[in-house]
Parts: sequence; structure tokens; C-alpha cells
Amino acid sequence: MRKLTLLLLALFMAAFCFAQVKVQHLLTENQPNPISIDALTPRFSWQLFAADKRGVMQIAYEIKVSTFTGLNKGKHDVWNSGKITSDQSAYVPYKGETLLPAQKYYWQVKVWDNSGKASEWSEPATFRMGLLTSADWKAQWITPGYVEDSLTRPSPLFRKGFALNKKVASALAYITSHGLYEAQINGHRVGDAYLTPGWTSYNKRLQYQVYDVTSLLQPGKNAVGATLGNGWYRGYFGYDPKPNLYGKDIALLFQMEVTYTDGTKETIVSDNSWKSSTGPVRFAEIYYGATVDNRMQQKNWSAASFDDKSWSGVTVKDFPKNILIATYNEPVKKHETFKPVKIFKTPKGEQVIDFGQNLVGWVQMKVSGHAGDKITISHAEVIDKEGNFYTENLRTARSQDTYILKGGGEESFEPQFTWQGFRFIKVEGYPGDLKPEDFTAVALYSDMKPMGSFSCSNALINQLQHNIQWGQKGNFLDVPTDCPQRDERLGWTGDAQVFSRTATFNMNAHNFFAKWLKDVAADQYPSGSVPFVIPDVLRPTGGSLGGSTGWADVSTIVPWNMYVAYGDKRILEDQYTSMKAWVNYMQQRSKNDLWNTGNHFGDWLFYSLNDDTDGSSAITNKYLIAQCFYAYSTQLLINTAKVLGKTDDENYYTALLAKIKDAYLREYVTPNGLISSDTQTAYVLALEFDMLPENLRQQAATRLVNNIRRYGDHLTTGFLGTPYICHVLSRFGYSNIAYRLLLQDTYPSWLYPVKMGATTIWERWDGIRPDGTFETPTMNSYNHYAYGAIGDWMYRVIAGIDTKDEGPGYKQIIIKPTIGGKLQNASADYETNYGKISSHWNLDAGNFNLDVEIPANTTATIYIPANSGSTVMENGKPLASATGITMAEPVTGYVVVNAGSGSYKFSTAAPLQ
Ligand code: BGC
Repeated sequence: MRKLTLLLLALFMAAFCFAQVKVQHLLTENQPNPISIDALTPRFSWQLFAADKRGVMQIAYEIKVSTFTGLNKGKHDVWNSGKITSDQSAYVPYKGETLLPAQKYYWQVKVWDNSGKASEWSEPATFRMGLLTSADWKAQWITPGYVEDSLTRPSPLFRKGFALNKKVASALAYITSHGLYEAQINGHRVGDAYLTPGWTSYNKRLQYQVYDVTSLLQPGKNAVGATLGNGWYRGYFGYDPKPNLYGKDIALLFQMEVTYTDGTKETIVSDNSWKSSTGPVRFAEIYYGATVDNRMQQKNWSAASFDDKSWSGVTVKDFPKNILIATYNEPVKKHETFKPVKIFKTPKGEQVIDFGQNLVGWVQMKVSGHAGDKITISHAEVIDKEGNFYTENLRTARSQDTYILKGGGEESFEPQFTWQGFRFIKVEGYPGDLKPEDFTAVALYSDMKPMGSFSCSNALINQLQHNIQWGQKGNFLDVPTDCPQRDERLGWTGDAQVFSRTATFNMNAHNFFAKWLKDVAADQYPSGSVPFVIPDVLRPTGGSLGGSTGWADVSTIVPWNMYVAYGDKRILEDQYTSMKAWVNYMQQRSKNDLWNTGNHFGDWLFYSLNDDTDGSSAITNKYLIAQCFYAYSTQLLINTAKVLGKTDDENYYTALLAKIKDAYLREYVTPNGLISSDTQTAYVLALEFDMLPENLRQQAATRLVNNIRRYGDHLTTGFLGTPYICHVLSRFGYSNIAYRLLLQDTYPSWLYPVKMGATTIWERWDGIRPDGTFETPTMNSYNHYAYGAIGDWMYRVIAGIDTKDEGPGYKQIIIKPTIGGKLQNASADYETNYGKISSHWNLDAGNFNLDVEIPANTTATIYIPANSGSTVMENGKPLASATGITMAEPVTGYVVVNAGSGSYKFSTAAPLQ
């Protein structure tokens, strides 16, 4: 406490420049001006900007919220916080009058900084509440009124004409569906989101989206239309794909609130006055692709002038509305586009296009031909050894789009209600030559903000970082999936927990995971067991009881990782019951505190050999792993109880944890510290989760290093050991070995796939073997992010950007770069709640240079690799005389300083490597 006061005082003194601080970048629930909030106490965040100033902290804030833009008039204020002494600038909860459904609110904030000065009021930001109860829904669920073709189930079209007789001031459309929907108003697409309403545990939580459609409306006659696809709701899906996992009816719920300029309102809703028909989308399934027949286009079907006399009516259904929730995470949108890098004929004579990047989305095509000409586009991730198009690893996922031309000029196609994971396409039936200008691949993924970048002087590592990011893009499609291409694409829990921390560096995964974690809790079994996949589509087909170690621990690990990365306590509050239920589940199944029952995936896809006469396969006992994760989850529950002030739980689980660790030692560790599974993963988990007493730790680290050396500097870890191996090595003084693992480029290693031309992270260390043959097609995805978990070490250890436990969400920053691996430089930039952190280092002419940027309203401890402070310069001046810096206790190999916000340039003689 005393130290903190001194630091704050030092920072206060350091705020030497007295220009006014600015408040910008206002967010409500992490979103800029959101229009569908259903949290009744939304949280506000903002950033302070103070160009060229060092050591800027907020010491107080004031927030005003109003239904009225003239905030300062005070007339319609629903909340004025008054001046609150606090340095909190992220997730400040609303504490005013009850917020009303569909109401728009304006808010502003001003802050006082540590020079004592107040900022101006910020520009107003807005948020709008969603529909908060089922009573707010006037619309009725509708299904098609015609008899569906039960085999192909073409996409239905719904429409309704209506008149608006006064001038429209604003209009909002609230839409959701059973299945996927795309809506149009007067011939224009509503919004730019795809695969809406997204995927949740549909029976318990169904999201709706809200669109500002004011600009799509016109005076007089208007029309609204919507088309639906089977999607996750009732498409063929899951292991051994089956239809109708959530129900067999495809349905629409549409409500549009129009406000006229005179203040009166009108509501257009889905009801029995709507019409239904089918259109060009004759078939659409996630795994199998779409068939679009342009001859079936109903021109202008969503325009007011369209004659819908021949259309059928609709059937009104009584589907529940009390499970409707506002959308919290970013919707799936179109992102990068790719043009063909190569068009070629394979030895088998297939016409193939290479887009140069394994991506997830679809291909847009332009074509001219005759009515009835049929073109198919098949998707593949790789070309086989012989140079032919290879789809066996997609298993039963046909991944094929079919287009039928109507003829009479150029036509454009793109599929609906499906997506594929691919780098290559095979085109059949195309009239004429394939020309690059006629094909474009479009990447689709959740519209999370890019947050971080990492690069260094090693081109292969940079490609690895690229692959990690594309693994994330391809598998963050509304839920975190294992892979995006074969007949799976499921929210595998193990994969998600393994990659979750890395994900936070690349993109803002806060709301993405917050939403998904609610489905984790929703689908958790009453026993506390956590399903293998979330949403749990394996349960309806009898395929999942969950409870696999390292997978089910998603329920503790991801909330904790999100808390660490974003400093958001509400995630912990929301997930606490689920976290505790999982720990209790393990406890109930333990005997004498040893959890050694159940079925587990174990250290999935660890290094193993076919002809293993000398026992080189790195098999780690699954129950030993289970005991480690039992301890880890219990530790995270303790941490969480501490953060939330649940002292009884904290004490209870602290006592339990001691017993869990004792049981582990008794069962699996010799008195000298040999672990009964003598594998890298066994040592990694023991050290990462503090399973061993202090006196046995260093020797265990040595055993780990010796094991790595025995395998010729190769890792042998699977899904569960891999994320931690380099962290453990660094923590015990072996960053040099961690670098060796990172730079290893023969199998198994991170760079082996890179050398084999990967553009994403592979599921297996040897998805393509050195001789060019493929691993078994039954399980061989080329876009599986789990092993990309090394990204976390690259940001946190190589570039050295981390957050302190006591200042999560980078409120208290650590900058601690690690030189090694013959790198000449490494750089990471990372956007946080407070602004950008940078750590850029390089070795140049015998000097080590470190450029650091620390955002306002944070503090940092910076570790400079040097033996003595007297050899370090900051911005050309001796460290001791640098502004805004105080010296801290050195640690081995580093000079340590405390600093406030600002840009710093350190340099020193390069330490010997
Ligand atoms: C998935 C994995 C998943 C695993 C469970 C696979 O089919 O693709 O990534 O975690 O099953 O062992």
C-alpha cells in the first residue's frame, strides 16, 4: 500500500506537462454506441489521451446519462454520478434510474487527472436498451404456409407490404429466427452481418439482432422480406450429422419500431398477414454447401411493388419468446478478400484455383452462360502429393456449392447459409476459361477488433504468427470452433481453453467469450459436468456426458483468462456458479482427494510413434493429468472467490487444494521428484500448476529440459501440455530451451508446418508428413488453432507484454522482453482498455534498444536486460535522471524501473547471449 502511494505520488510529480487530458473512445459494454443492450446495469469505459505527457493517471471521474442529447441541461438526466474519486476507467457500472426497453441514452464523462486538472466533457456516446422482456415482443413467430419439400428444404422467403403515411424519424428492426436469416427492406439488405442470429444454446438462449433501418424506408409503400436457412438450428450437424438438433421448424420473428417525426410510433411485426414462398436457394447446409438456382429468382421480392398474390400464407407458431436475448458479441461479417494466386489443371484434369491462404468463408463468382448451365465449386485445404485436389479430410462434409444459371448476361453468385474452410477450389461446369477477375474468396468471421500484432527478425516466426491469426479468424465464427471445414465445426471446449489467452492478444475476444461462456453455463449438466462441445449438440444424439479433464476446465480457465486479460469482474460473477459446479463435480468423483475416474481425452495428439520399440511415444497418464487440472481449476476458483470477496469459499477450497496436491504427490511422484509419467507434459503441468513442493521444482525443470534434449530439442506435448511448455521453461530459467523449441523446424515443432507451406495452424504436428503424404483423413484438419497457443508466449515473453495479477486487464503492466533465439529484434503492440502498449526491442551495433509505450491511467514495471542501472540510458539520458521513472529492485539479468504512461526509449550495452 505504502509502495503504491509512493508510486502514485511519483507519478503525480511526474505529470510535468499541464496540457489538458482528453477523454475519448467511449464504450458501453465494450461496444461503441451499441443499440441492443440487455444488461440492466451496463458498464462504461473510456480512455484518457495526453499527448507527450508522462505519468498521467485519472484521480476522479464524473458520468452523466440522459435520454436527451442536451446532457448538460440536466433536465432529463437519468444518472449523474457526481465526482467520484477513483482511477477506474473501465467497466464503471451504471447506477441511475431503471433503464427502459428500446430507449436510447446519451452519456458523457469527464475526468480529473493527477495534475489536478479536469478534462472537458467527452463527446456524447450513446447506447440503446434492447427488448427486455417477452412482453416487449409484439411480433409472432411465423413459419412457411406451404408444404415444405422435406428432402431438400429450400430456403423460404417471407414478405409483407406496408405503408408509412408520415415522415419517418427513425426505425429499428428486431429480428431473430429458428435457423439463419437474412432480411431485406425495399430490396436492400438489412445490415452487413452473416449467419445471424448466431449460435447459442438455442433452447435456452436465442439472440436477436437490432438494426437501424431508417435509411431503408421510404414515404408511402414499403415492403420487408426475410429468407431463412437451416443453419445450426435444424441443419445436418454434429458428429454423425443429423438434422433438427433443436427443432424441425424454421421460423422468423420480426419486429420493426418506426418513430415518425411528430413523435408518434408504428410497429410492423411478423404475423399471419405475411406471405411465404421459396426462391433461388434450393438447398443450404453448413457442411454440404448451398445450391442456388438463379432461374428461381423472384425479382424484387422484397420491394413494395412486388405482386405476392401467388405466394402462400404463413403459419403462426407459439414458440417461446422468454429465451430471447440481445446480441452481446460481435456479429459475423465479411473481412479480407483474396484473388486467385494461381489457376491450374491438376494431373487428374481438375480445374483448380489457389487463393494462397487457408481461410473460412466462401467464393464469389461471376459468370455468363445459358439458362440451366450448372457450375459446382468444391473446396479443399490442400493439394495432395501428386498435385490433385484433396477432400478426404473433410470426411462427410461435401463442402460444395452449386450454381444454376438463368442465362442472358453476366450473373454473380455467392452462397447463403453455409461456409467452408478452404484455400483451393475446384470448379466444374464453368462455361469458358477460369479468369482471376471472376473469382474472389471472402473471409467471414466474428467482427472482433484487431488488438495485437507481433513481429520479429525471423521470417518463419512471423509466418507462424500469421498462421495463428488466421487460425483464429477461421475458427472464431460466432463460437470458438475446433476446425471450420470437416463435418465437425463444433465448440470443442478443450481447444477453446487452450487458445483463449492467445486469442485475447490478437483480437478483442472479450464479448465473444463472455457470450459463449453463458452457453457453457447453460449447457452444463446438473451434476456440474461440462459437455465436450458448447453449444452441446452432441447431447441430443447421446454422444456426450462431458467431464473430460482439460476440456471441461474451460469453465474455470476461460473466465479467469478473460478476467486477467480484460480486468472484467463481471465475467467472474456471471460464471462463478458454473466454475464452482465443475470443481464440485471433480470433488464428488474423487476418492481420498484423488480424481481417477471417468473418460478423458488426455494430452490429445501428443507425439506418438507407430513402431515404438524403445517407447519414445510421449504418453502421459490421463488420471495424472486429471489430478493436475483438478488442482488448477480449484486454484482458479480460489482466485475468483478472492476477487469476489467470497471468503468462506476461498478458505474451503484452499484447504481442498492442499489435499488435492498431497494426493497427487502420494500417487504420482517419487520422493526424489520423478513423476510416474516421465513426459514433458507431466513435468509441464506439475510446474505450471505448482503441484510440486518448492524443493522439488527446480529438479523437475531440469528433468523437463533433459527430456526435451533427449528428443533432439523437440517438444512431444499434445493439446494440454503445449500451451504451457515455453512458459514453464522461461519461469525456471530456461528461455534458451524455449527458444530452441520455438525455432525447431523439424517434426514435431511449430515451424515444421510453416516450412511445409502452412498458412494456418494444423491440428496435428505432422498433418503433412515430410514425404508429402497426409496423416489419416479421419482426423486431419489444416485449420485448428490449439497449437497456436504459443502466441501467448511470443507476446508475453519474447516481446514481454504482460499484466500483473493485482492489476488485471493491463491496469498494472509488466514489460519484460526476453532476448534469445538469435533474434535481432521483436515487437509487439497491444490495444488494451486504456490504450496501446508497445514493446519493441532490437540489438544493434552491440546495443540493446527497447522502445516502450504505456497508456494513460496505467502503471508499468519495466525490465531492461542489463546488469546495472548505470549502463542504461533513457532517451539519451542516464536512467537515474529520466522523467517519470523510479528505480525498483533489480532481478537477475534485469534492471527494473517503475513508470507511468508515456513513451520511453531505453538503451544499454547488449547483454551476452
Ligand atoms: C476435435 C478436437 C477435439 C477432440 C476431442 C476432435 O475431433 O477436432 O479438436 O478437442 O475431438 O478430443
